[in-house]
Amino acid sequence: MSNIAILCSGGDVSGMNPAIKHFVEYAKAKGLKPFLVYDGFEGLIDNKIVAATYKDVSGIINRGGTTIGSARSKRFMEASYRQKAKDNLDALAIDKLVVLGGDGSFRGLAKFYEEHGVAFAGVPSTIDNDIVGTDYCLGVDTALNIIRTSLDAIRDTASSFRRAFVVETMGRDCGYLALVSGLTSGAELCLIPEIPYDLCGYEQKFKKELAQGRRYFLAVVSEGIEQSSEEIATWFEERIGVESRVSVLGHIQRGGNPSSRDRLMAYRFVQFAMEGLLKGEKEKIVCYSNSQFNYKSITDVANREHHIEPALMALVQSTALHC
Ligand code: F6P
Repeated sequence: MSNIAILCSGGDVSGMNPAIKHFVEYAKAKGLKPFLVYDGFEGLIDNKIVAATYKDVSGIINRGGTTIGSARSKRFMEASYRQKAKDNLDALAIDKLVVLGGDGSFRGLAKFYEEHGVAFAGVPSTIDNDIVGTDYCLGVDTALNIIRTSLDAIRDTASSFRRAFVVETMGRDCGYLALVSGLTSGAELCLIPEIPYDLCGYEQKFKKELAQGRRYFLAVVSEGIEQSSEEIATWFEERIGVESRVSVLGHIQRGGNPSSRDRLMAYRFVQFAMEGLLKGEKEKIVCYSNSQFNYKSITDVANREHHIEPALMALVQSTALHC
């Protein structure tokens, strides 16, 4: 019987628990022995590797976060700790790994593979949706739904006053969450790192709209833009003449019960990952592009610059959001 382990690394996403559930159930169905690695690469180093039972994964499909924990491991960047991780895997005869994580985690994994040749399949999992080669990363749909609910609620209170609300989304250097949320919530302003902007361009338009009866503005800004959300709020006060407030959505975007789409995508990503490993794929990231699952070599995914899909960029540039 072949032994296989799963771990979560980096920022957690809603969808990891359904992925872990399907990993255990599918492994058992295929005659593999599944193991859970607690706390990401840290757990691999510290030997927190436990044989999985059905009980471990029952009742978790609806829960956000990850029941096996995650970590951003600095130690795994050092060769001596990677050796320790390999020794721990060898002691349990584990020769296959499924890793749920983002770009940073895949970089560590690429090094581990180069040195020790442990076969792995990576499942892109980050709310930032910033992994090269895949149109979709696990967790994005749930995060977008949480942002949408928050923006709709903020719009309610904004419309009761004559105010501007600047709402900051996560995404690190990628504006995907802000871009999609700005479009789908009917925001008046959306600022992301990928699109240069000049606020002066919006001044006349916004003042005219106020004079015509507009009561409030909703601005969605990505955490990666050069100015702070407070600076954008000050601009509304000083240049447009409306009282303003800032809401930083923060980590609520990473929690919440997984959407149906993320549950289904978790199952499909994991199934494709495990089928690949069983067919002899060794160092692949499971990608979802043009509505199809496919395997890409880790070297074609990690360490490459990510760009938001051009059609989406063109869409935002063709709307009133863009000046
Ligand atoms: O990568 C996911 C992410 O949520 C980013 O959007 C955000 O910048 C970062 O993680 C926050 O990291 P932490 O949870 O370590 O504060």
